[in-house]
Amino acid sequence: MSLPFVQPTAVERLIYISRASEPMGTLDLFNLLNNCREKNARLGITGHLLYADGIFKQCIEGPPAAIDGLWQSLLKDNRHEILEVRHRGAAEFRRFEEWAMAFSSYRYLNDFNMPGFFPLDANGVSEKSLLCS
Ligand SMILES: Cc1cc2nc3c(=O)[nH]c(=O)nc-3n(C[C@H](O)[C@H](O)[C@H](O)COP(=O)(O)O)c2cc1C
Repeated sequence: MSLPFVQPTAVERLIYISRASEPMGTLDLFNLLNNCREKNARLGITGHLLYADGIFKQCIEGPPAAIDGLWQSLLKDNRHEILEVRHRGAAEFRRFEEWAMAFSSYRYLNDFNMPGFFPLDANGVSEKSLLCS
């Protein structure tokens, strides 16, 4: 008799909004994304970061203990002030499976042509940012 399929690791999703303490420039964002992606890949975290007009919206998804740990780091990070948690809960599947941290912002903030960058259109959305709500 075959056993029912059980997800090997539970995945949790957390979505929050924060305000940047200082306006972020191209280089700030490039460095932030590189560091995020390195640590997220190690921790099995995937997700999406939106930055527009001094506001971040981030979706992180991964094993609950890794999400807890990253959340503690995010709370302490003085580059931003957390304004609101929009969602936290178990996720049946990852929305950003292939991205250690996809990034959507204005095209002019991507001078370094980073991979995983999704430009915002005239309505302030990208194909990926629409998945982060
Ligand atoms: C808007 C924003 C989003 C961030 N996203 C991540 C992230 O996805 N992964 C990550 O490792 N660090 C992220 N960071 C950086 C963390 O706040 C923190 O500096 C980093 O994880 C190192 O923390 P630690 O010194 O406690 O290990 C983000 C910072 C900001 C301001």
